[in-house]
Amino acid sequence: MSAADARFPALVLEEREGGVRAELREIGEADLPEGDVTVEVAYSTLNYKDGMILKGLGRMVRRYPHVPGVDFAGNVLKSASPRFRPGDGVLLTGYRVGEAQFGGYAARARVKSDWLVKLPAGMDARRAMAIGTAGFTAMLAVMALEEHGLEPEAGGEVLVTGASGGLGSVAVALLAGLGHRVAAATGRPENADYLRALGAAEIVPRAETAPAPERPLLSERWAGAIDSVGGTTLARALASLRYHASCAACGLAGGNEFPGNVLPFLLRGVNLLGVDSVMCAMPRREEAWRRLARDLPAAKIDGMTREVGLRDLPGLAEEILAGRVRGRIVVDPRR
Ligand SMILES: NC(=O)c1ccc[n+]([C@@H]2O[C@H](COP(=O)([O-])OP(=O)(O)OC[C@H]3O[C@@H](n4cnc5c(N)ncnc54)[C@H](OP(=O)(O)O)[C@@H]3O)[C@@H](O)[C@H]2O)c1
Repeated sequence: MSAADARFPALVLEEREGGVRAELREIGEADLPEGDVTVEVAYSTLNYKDGMILKGLGRMVRRYPHVPGVDFAGNVLKSASPRFRPGDGVLLTGYRVGEAQFGGYAARARVKSDWLVKLPAGMDARRAMAIGTAGFTAMLAVMALEEHGLEPEAGGEVLVTGASGGLGSVAVALLAGLGHRVAAATGRPENADYLRALGAAEIVPRAETAPAPERPLLSERWAGAIDSVGGTTLARALASLRYHASCAACGLAGGNEFPGNVLPFLLRGVNLLGVDSVMCAMPRREEAWRRLARDLPAAKIDGMTREVGLRDLPGLAEEILAGRVRGRIVVDPRR
């Protein structure tokens, strides 16, 4: 049997009775979408968006059967692109892979070479996916804050909301590693030791960061903020920023609408920075991965990661949507 005829495991979503069902199946390369590079997937991951797709939420997937998984890393198996050769280590996040076309919850993936990033020096596929889309987004958020003046020398605390989630955990470890004093906001006080081990200087109960601000301007508290929660949490973070500070809005774990007031912008000159990891331009992508290889302490990533197989994902989707997953989950598609 040639490599092209080989069957390999995949988690396949089918639309049934108005809902979405996941089944573990063997598929072949003929089932994969078009693309100029085929990758032997070593690892994928579970992100919040994967949880939504696995549960058929958000209308992100329009065609079934579907193989989810919004990110993966592995080795090039075949390439019609001059940029990649068989054996090259690559990673992919975003570009609507795992939504508009088959993603990383299969042992092979076929994609456009324009979407692939070479694994940065010193980073293997498992480490890359321990970071994954959530960690890559945390890096983009840190870069956006730095571009708007955040520097550790200026002092002050940087708030990270949803801190024990994937994006939040990497944001805490990154910021602390760069010398910032990090205030980690969490609804799970039992994760305080975990967050301190990642570098958090202070643990802030969610009850302090989640309520809608009672006034347009609250005391100036944060030198910067990375928000993975949205909703009233984002509104409160904006009202609590120091003069000229910035908040990077990354997520919606607490809701995608937020009650806004323009006074923090007009009277404190604060910045609300949007962070999109999906269509982020390739040079910025590559820069973010170089930074992750350099600035994210390896031991911290290992300490926030656990490994699962494809069959574990439907149950874990419910856990991540309920805010019960801690840190990052990597997925071995052959496990
Ligand atoms: N902009 C982008 O390109 C991009 C990329 C990746 C992810 N995201 C978004 O970023 C968010 C985080 O993603 P993730 O993969 O890190 O998910 P995650 O692991 O589930 O983390 C989310 C965290 O938010 C907190 N949380 C959950 N529900 C909440 C609620 N109702 N109110 C307040 N806090 C709540 C929990 O942390 P605590 O228990 O510690 O409070 C939870 O662990 C998601 O909304 C995701 O869609 C956006």
